[in-house]
Amino acid sequence: MTARPELRGDVAVLVPAAGLGVRLGPGGPKALRLLSGEPLLVHALRRVAAAGVGCVVVAAPPGEVDAVAQLLAGIGPVTVVPGGDTRQASVAAALAAVPANFDIILVHDAARSLAPPALVVSVADAVRAGHDAVIPVLPVVDTIKEVAASGVVVGTVDRTVLRAVQTPQGFRRAVLAAAHDAATDQHTDDAGMVEKLGVPVFCVPGDELAMKITRPVDLMIAEALLARTLAP
Ligand code: C5P
Repeated sequence: MTARPELRGDVAVLVPAAGLGVRLGPGGPKALRLLSGEPLLVHALRRVAAAGVGCVVVAAPPGEVDAVAQLLAGIGPVTVVPGGDTRQASVAAALAAVPANFDIILVHDAARSLAPPALVVSVADAVRAGHDAVIPVLPVVDTIKEVAASGVVVGTVDRTVLRAVQTPQGFRRAVLAAAHDAATDQHTDDAGMVEKLGVPVFCVPGDELAMKITRPVDLMIAEALLARTLAP
């Protein structure tokens, strides 16, 4: 897909990057772990910037705000704010820093470092086309079972109706803000909060490159993709 940067200037991207990355093993905050010699956050933001968006706000680990701002200085205008104790709190902190003139807001995990610019464009365009909430999804390849605490299978879920959800997720600003204002419990993504408001969430095709880097094996897969220049 060819990005038309002149149409993305009204898009702001929030990047929650304040997680500790415990599942990745010992080391610093996940967004600052290296992938082929560069922090995950740098990989993610370079691809976001290539989509021509007008505003980027990163929620960094509270003790790393200055270091992260320096790290990202070469990428373009990026605002860095201290993140919160949860992903949700980090997104809310980043949203509060977006200038009022941005009406389309994307939320993109730093951990999906190889998500291509075309995916950013496709989500933003679906919001602009009239969907108040947009998520990129992929079919689920594994068989999924519900398992009781005892370790015994309760049942098998119909895989054909399931989708694995990625980021960036896109929203009309008022919808995202209302969802955060109304949320009383913690959600693992922003669309989950929007669903609670009763707002329809529209799906667009996801991209395998937008895989989430969570465990050591994910880092190895991402490095292999980069080495084969499968992830531009
Ligand atoms: O923990 P999880 O893998 O779901 O984190 C998804 C994203 O949310 C990561 O990019 C992580 O840095 C971010 N996060 C955050 N603030 C937290 C926890 C997670 O910005 N307190």
